[in-house]
Amino acid sequence: ETRIIKNICCIGAGYVGGPTMAVIAQKCPHIKVTVVDLNAQRIADWNDADLDKLPIYEPGLADVVAEARGRNLFFSTDVDKAIDEAQMIFISVNTPTKTYGVGKGMAADLKYIELCARQIARVSKDDKIIVEKSTLPVRTAEALRTILTSTGNHVNFQVLSSPEFLAEGTAVTDLHKPDRVLIGGDADAEGQAAIEALVAVYENWVPRERIITTRVWSSELSKLTANAFLAQRVSSINAISALCEKTGADVDEISRAIGADSRIGAKFLKSSVGFGGSCFQKDILNLVYLCQHFNLPEVAAYWEQVIKMNDYQKHRFAKKIIDSLFNTVSGKKIAFLGWAFKKDTNDTRESAAIYVADELLQDRAEIHIYDPKVRAEQVFADLEYLQTHRKDAIHGVSLTTDEIKNLVKVHVNPYTAMRSAHAIAILTEWDEFKIYDWQKVYGQMLKPAFVFDGRNVVSKTELEEIGFHVYNIGKG
Ligand code: UDX
Ligand code: UDX
Ligand code: ADP
Repeated sequence: ETRIIKNICCIGAGYVGGPTMAVIAQKCPHIKVTVVDLNAQRIADWNDADLDKLPIYEPGLADVVAEARGRNLFFSTDVDKAIDEAQMIFISVNTPTKTYGVGKGMAADLKYIELCARQIARVSKDDKIIVEKSTLPVRTAEALRTILTSTGNHVNFQVLSSPEFLAEGTAVTDLHKPDRVLIGGDADAEGQAAIEALVAVYENWVPRERIITTRVWSSELSKLTANAFLAQRVSSINAISALCEKTGADVDEISRAIGADSRIGAKFLKSSVGFGGSCFQKDILNLVYLCQHFNLPEVAAYWEQVIKMNDYQKHRFAKKIIDSLFNTVSGKKIAFLGWAFKKDTNDTRESAAIYVADELLQDRAEIHIYDPKVRAEQVFADLEYLQTHRKDAIHGVSLTTDEIKNLVKVHVNPYTAMRSAHAIAILTEWDEFKIYDWQKVYGQMLKPAFVFDGRNVVSKTELEEIGFHVYNIGKG
């Protein structure tokens, strides 16, 4: 019969662990859920009485936390205690791309995962089910198992792979109504029992037919494949956007026309300045690294092209701005609307805005940034990080901290950011950008006043009537 889980621990209180555990706790009041993290500030923020201070912004998340926190949802820095008490342990720590040594710039850095495994092995006194929630390269579960079982403390560990498919900005809805939940485990009886224990947790709110169970390796590879396919759709439509601009076609009309084909589907065909986020690039690089490792160079090259196209799209947008402003942006004020990698999140990891800003800074533009949810410290941290990692991937010269401070200003008011600007660049599709008083903005700008819409959120015809010069992605 199915083992009933009453105590869950999650290691990692980030964009994945935080919302996922909050929803499990909300939907399963009979399960005690403890989310632990080494980062004491992050835990303090999750525990803050003021729900506006939660470390991540997601629509609807504050309500879920308010409902469950203190009842059966707890945030703590006492990792050992939570591991010891839990029957099931989710691992959702960060797995960035390696920045050193073997596989640098491509392979996932598994050091955080490995540390978790060693800690679990050291602390555990009874049998546990370990669930890998972070996106990981295929065969990580195997590595986890090897570490866990090498201690000889006679504790039985079952390792499951249950990748999370939530998208940021819609995390709570995605968790409440997932298209599917994927659980991979071993084929033997113990593996199947562990799978059933996790199925029973999700069945509290997810219909059984939406819970897919597979072998561990298929589950791990499904996650990489799903993200590679999604990113591929964005790069494919972005490739077509470049052709649209040359031929006079309209990429949004094309998206509608092809999306109506049920074999293609309407979603994820929005042309943009380029995809960002912590997953797409990292997961594709992982996939490419795997293919190279298994000596499949043609397959590796195929997927690598998705990233090259994305780099091209970001570069194309920055170049369009420089070309349109008479071949130089030096000393010119460019207002950025949006810094997050998509709307409704404060996450900026791999955001296209960072790369576009960098190209303009290389030409010594003055950039004035407004984003409704991103704090100034984050903007500067992103630009600094890029400078220190420039040698790995990005061309150009590193800017000093002082140069960045002099050239970049972060505003809390969009109108001040745009005042006296030569041009406006829209980098994130925040809804509020659509309802700005564009007539007023125009009045305060230098002329000719340019708008470069990297998300096709404002109306080209309306803005042109006001007097703006408007560039849209994929509109010839
Ligand atoms: C295609 C388009 O589907 C159609 O809309 C267009 O008008 C003409 O081109 P067609 O070539 O007749 O139609 O057949 P299609 O079903 O698309 O298959 C094309 C090839 O892809 C076949 O060899 C098929 O076996 C292969 N295929 C298709 C796969 O290998 N896997 C699939 O999942 C689908
Ligand atoms: C993605 C996957 O969607 C999710 O299933 C997985 O769990 C994690 O990675 P996320 O990165 O949070 O989620 O957001 P997503 O909505 O996928 O957007 C990724 C990037 O692609 C964003 O920069 C977004 O603006 C861009 N995008 C998306 C487009 O440019 N066009 C589109 O049509 C869709
Ligand atoms: P994701 O988007 O995958 O959720 P985040 O970076 O938002 O990634 O969150 C991962 C969290 O995991 C971070 O808050 C980090 O401090 C935490 N973390 C990393 N390693 C450990 C560890 N060994 N023990 C506890 N927490 C950890």
